[in-house]
Amino acid sequence: MKADILNILRSRDGVISGEAIREQLDISRVSVWKHIQKLQQAGYTIESTPKGYRLIDSPDIPYPWEFKEKEFLIHYFPEIESTMDTARDLARNGCAPFTVVVADRQKNGRGRMKRVWVSEAGGLYMTIVLRPQVPLSYGMRHMFAVSVVLCRVIREWTGVDARVKWPNDILVDGQKLCGMLSEMETEADMVYYLNVGIGVNVNNDPPTDEPNCCSLRQLTGRSWSRKDLLSRFMTALKDYLSHMDLGQVVSDWKTLSSTPGKPVRIVMPDQTVEGIAIDVDDTGGLIIELADGIRKTILFGDCFEQHEPATHHP
Ligand code: BTN
Repeated sequence: MKADILNILRSRDGVISGEAIREQLDISRVSVWKHIQKLQQAGYTIESTPKGYRLIDSPDIPYPWEFKEKEFLIHYFPEIESTMDTARDLARNGCAPFTVVVADRQKNGRGRMKRVWVSEAGGLYMTIVLRPQVPLSYGMRHMFAVSVVLCRVIREWTGVDARVKWPNDILVDGQKLCGMLSEMETEADMVYYLNVGIGVNVNNDPPTDEPNCCSLRQLTGRSWSRKDLLSRFMTALKDYLSHMDLGQVVSDWKTLSSTPGKPVRIVMPDQTVEGIAIDVDDTGGLIIELADGIRKTILFGDCFEQHEPATHHP
């Protein structure tokens, strides 16, 4: 009903009477008024005069009813511990693929390699549940697909020169705009769910103790709608995955990548290595050439390109 009322209000420039809304939705005047009040409480600025109602402004909050036919996929929280935990519960309970848990703030946001992901208001913090019907070894390609899609959406929508960095960061001019974290469970060697947690610095100021981070607002000098970004991303991801050729994903990723050819330092849980990033293989492993000319394929770690200082690890 909230979506229906908003549609009616948005289809009018001026005031629309409560009677006209009542008639279109076949509900009582009192019910119209109650829904309008609920929308006002949710942050919508709706002018109410004796002549009727006028929508002045909508908050940039990813309420499920803002997502049309995708409404049932969206689980929105103003504040949450981590979207990863809630998405895991939903995935284990059999939720539909493309279910999204999204929050305005996280009290316990997690990054890769056991880092904290500071999640202040203004950023987009979400976990999307994917259910690719593939063996475990193909899971990483789906992570690459998510990076490709989000990077393309950001480039096309905002015009910033976003690039992917191995394994799944999105950078602009070497500064981190977005980080991703995955969690997967398998059943008889097939992926049961692949949850991808994504933090995008949209209108927030990333913490200054995290070197080399940026937000869309800092890059462009204006705010961007988090709900539009989420909606565009969901549509594009569904489209990409439904036409995806598994062999093509890594080459799509490479066309957007800033990593190959660069001197890199790779921080893994148990060791750090330095070398030149040569290529990414078909499964998503990063091939680097060490100082002695030996090539090594890295499957898990954090990659710092030469100009980047390494972040601190606990
Ligand atoms: C990284 O670059 O270290 C990955 C950061 C991933 C952050 C996102 S924000 C939404 C989701 N929930 C979390 O707790 N983490 C991910």
